[in-house]
Amino acid sequence: MVRSGGEVGESACSGQFMGAPLDPEEASRLLIEGYGRMARAYDANVGPYHVPIARRLLELGRIGAEERVLDIGCGIGIAAFEAATTVDERGSILGIDLAEPAVRLAAEKAATMDLRQLRFDVMDSRAMTLPADSVDLVLSCFGHPLVGRDRCFAEVRRVLGPRGRFVLSTWDTTKSSRVPFREILERRRPRILAPDVARLIEARKVIASTDEGRATQSGDGWIRLLRNAGFSAVQAIEEIHPAVFRSPDAFLDYSFAWDDNERELRQMTPEGREALRQEFRERVAERMGKEGLVVDWPLRYFVVAR
Ligand SMILES: C[S@@+](CC[C@H](N)C(=O)[O-])C[C@H]1O[C@@H](n2cnc3c(N)ncnc32)[C@H](O)[C@@H]1O
Repeated sequence: MVRSGGEVGESACSGQFMGAPLDPEEASRLLIEGYGRMARAYDANVGPYHVPIARRLLELGRIGAEERVLDIGCGIGIAAFEAATTVDERGSILGIDLAEPAVRLAAEKAATMDLRQLRFDVMDSRAMTLPADSVDLVLSCFGHPLVGRDRCFAEVRRVLGPRGRFVLSTWDTTKSSRVPFREILERRRPRILAPDVARLIEARKVIASTDEGRATQSGDGWIRLLRNAGFSAVQAIEEIHPAVFRSPDAFLDYSFAWDDNERELRQMTPEGREALRQEFRERVAERMGKEGLVVDWPLRYFVVAR
């Protein structure tokens, strides 16, 4: 099962959870905190690899220069900044996220680039403080909430105008990208987990085991959720995106810009970390081509009309 980036995996879990059992909402809050904690590393090491996916969303959404665009779960604003290459000051772009440090970083970048059509705000995509019929195009580059997609999709429908479109990308977690990263990380995981690592493993597990977590393993599950929110025209597109990493270490930098992976690495000894890196380099050596390491990301896009 693929587990690049932020998708919910089925990691083996030691059962040594600390504190009270997590409910899904609390689990989701923990993961969101991680996006805030990792905002700078995410900007440097994840952002460049998600740009082509953001561009694909803009293409599928047929973005126009004068449109009112909303990027939900914008994080450091990858899709919002891409939208700003098309939308000028006759239109507007708002990026929203609950990870405050990521939103702050995105806003600082927009200010230094003098992009006046672009704004960022801390806001829950499941309860948006935006008027009805105030947006033409909603983008979500892996930015859906992990809990409460039904409320988020109903909100998206509410804020969209009559000719509005909603385009989103998700990982297809049923397919493998055939990179041995997760397997190596889990095998080298210390027997006694640090409490924060155990808590995040539990959080992922709690989220994956909700009805919603199970339903969104399949494309049909996503379509059902979107239809239940009142959208009738839902197009699903499955694509493999070849993500090109110039070296095995660039792939590791990408992977360790995700909060739970970074915490796992941190709990290892320096020798353990180097051994992990070395094993990864050796395992992917034969896949290295002229461009570097090409990792096929199985993705699902949904193109939804209001
Ligand atoms: C996988 S990241 C995607 C970030 C960015 N869009 C990208 O392309 O890499 C998911 C983002 O969704 C945000 N998020 C999760 N639940 C949310 C909610 N209910 N409201 C707003 N943002 C949310 C997280 O904080 C995180 O920044």
